[in-house]
Amino acid sequence: MTLTRRELIAGTAAGIGATTLLRSAGTAAAAPASVDAARAAAVPVTTTLNINGRDLRVTHDIRTSLLDALREHLSLTGTKKGCDHGQCGACTVHIDGRTALSCLTLAVAARGHSITTIEGLAAAPGRLHPVQQAFIDKDGFQCGYCTPGQIMSSVACIKEGFADDAASIREFMSGNLCRCAAYPNIVAAIEQARPQGGA
Ligand code: FES
Ligand code: FES
Repeated sequence: MTLTRRELIAGTAAGIGATTLLRSAGTAAAAPASVDAARAAAVPVTTTLNINGRDLRVTHDIRTSLLDALREHLSLTGTKKGCDHGQCGACTVHIDGRTALSCLTLAVAARGHSITTIEGLAAAPGRLHPVQQAFIDKDGFQCGYCTPGQIMSSVACIKEGFADDAASIREFMSGNLCRCAAYPNIVAAIEQARPQGGA
């Protein structure tokens, strides 16, 4: 199914309309047009997403975020939901090799792009990516909840040339929050993995 930008915006706007409708229930009569729009947005769409080198089909509400598509529809739960508002970095994935916050990315907007999650980072099953190994070697985590997002950003930090020194690393990684404050160890892990170039 091909969606135009206009159709996508209409679906999203319908979602906002539905929320408004719920909030105002009991206080005001809803406009029939809003009800129709909300129903239209609830019609599932089927999207093919290229994730970790495989084309996967997923049927979902058009308003579904990439994060929810990964976790709730495809059982790829390595990508974590922290704030769901673009503020913590726990949901970081790569889209076409660049970091992206999957909680702020609509699943339909990721069609036609190459998505990499923490599950697809290593070169082969049973092996660890050098950054994953470095996080273990340097104790770059405590509870581990932020760690997949930290690792995805760390790989990008090295690949994009922002790992020359600790200050650059901290600046690049500032969008990834860690409630356990493992920051010094994360910097050490990135410095360990730096010679491999993030590959
Ligand atoms: Fe996406 Fe926090 S869950 S930035
Ligand atoms: Fe616990 Fe980062 S290791 S939030």
